[in-house]
Amino acid sequence: MEIISKIFLENKAWAADKTNMDREYFNKLALIQEPDFLWIGCSDSRVPANEITNTEPGEMFVHRNIANVVDLHDINLMSVMQYAVEYLKVKHIIVCGHYGCGGIKAAMSNDSFGNMDVWLKKIKDVHAKHASEVDGIINEEDRLKKMVELNVQAGVHKIQSSELIQANPSIIVHGWVYDLHDGILHRIAGGETI
Ligand code: CO
Repeated sequence: MEIISKIFLENKAWAADKTNMDREYFNKLALIQEPDFLWIGCSDSRVPANEITNTEPGEMFVHRNIANVVDLHDINLMSVMQYAVEYLKVKHIIVCGHYGCGGIKAAMSNDSFGNMDVWLKKIKDVHAKHASEVDGIINEEDRLKKMVELNVQAGVHKIQSSELIQANPSIIVHGWVYDLHDGILHRIAGGETI
């Protein structure tokens, strides 16, 4: 229970800090959310959307799943996207992967991970599409890095081809990869209007 109590203590300290800086901080935030960005990232605890982009609550609408998979049949992701586009009027959709992604590594192995195999299949499909390019890379780390990039690229292309974005062509879809080793984001795909 100790670590849970710590979370509540830290929460109080954080809320007090915010109120000390701006007495109206929470009142303003509670009133409206107008984020410019939808972030689709990996659930990995080392890649928190707000922290790595130095953004505040209210600035980014966030969806995260294992290995930032974009599947146009995923009702969870599609609902998030629809809400972000039609109601929040986001201007940018960011698909952000990261090097050293455990989900990508798992998908690239021949091991079985129980229920997760259904999810990992979506990454295996990306691999199958680019098998000759990916499998030609001898070094395992480089091969996995390539897959991280291809998975992001596939996500960007799927979003760009979706009915939702075709109907809202001013939205810019970006494909980025975050490097755990230095905290830097890299542009991989997208970034232009369709
Ligand atoms: Co990951």
